[in-house]
Amino acid sequence: MGKVYFGMIVSLDGFINDRHGKIDKLYETYQPHYEFPGAVVMGRNSFDMASDPDGYADHYEFQVPLFVLTQQPPEKHPKENGQLTFTFVTDGIESAISQAKTAASGKDVLVFGANVCQQLLQANMADELQICFAPVLLGKGTRFFEHLEDLDIQLKKIRTYVDDEQVEIWYKIRQQTN
Ligand SMILES: NC(=O)c1ccc[n+]([C@@H]2O[C@H](COP(=O)([O-])OP(=O)(O)OC[C@H]3O[C@@H](n4cnc5c(N)ncnc54)[C@H](OP(=O)(O)O)[C@@H]3O)[C@@H](O)[C@H]2O)c1
Repeated sequence: MGKVYFGMIVSLDGFINDRHGKIDKLYETYQPHYEFPGAVVMGRNSFDMASDPDGYADHYEFQVPLFVLTQQPPEKHPKENGQLTFTFVTDGIESAISQAKTAASGKDVLVFGANVCQQLLQANMADELQICFAPVLLGKGTRFFEHLEDLDIQLKKIRTYVDDEQVEIWYKIRQQTN
């Protein structure tokens, strides 16, 4: 059975984008070490980063079923292909993860978007965290970790990748249910 992991690139001061919502500075030194997922769950804000949603089918790095949490699916369903499909999920994170696990057929499910990752932790559905620290201080932006003060989360480091510019750490997540 695959795991559910969430991963993002974060500035040293804890932001996943800058004050204008841009992520360019975070990606300047990024060297990916992800394990290729069988399905991806993302939030609507992450989905909306693409200027043309049809481009996902042509260029997106993860050519797998994509599940987008949103209150309002787009009027026009984006282009799909034999591997990349879109499901717009309006009934919560548990439903999105359950559908993604089925679609992933035993492979991992990758989750991103700060808001959605926080819901994943609140639902106690995360197995692992991949966090990549970019060598930049953004000062302002969207915080990766917020609204978690009522949770009891323990992290156990399972591997680290270090190169000249960045540090990436993978953690196993254990949560106590309160
Ligand atoms: N550093 C990185 O690695 C990285 C990677 C990708 C993106 N980013 C940045 O991260 C930003 C996205 O993160 P984010 O925290 O702003 O947003 P997000 O988690 O991608 O999306 C949040 C939105 O998803 C929808 N949603 C979430 N949970 C839902 C639920 N349970 N039911 C229905 N709809 C739900 C809502 O949108 P609606 O109400 O509009 O439907 C919500 O406002 C991007 O804009 C980009 O700047 C950073």
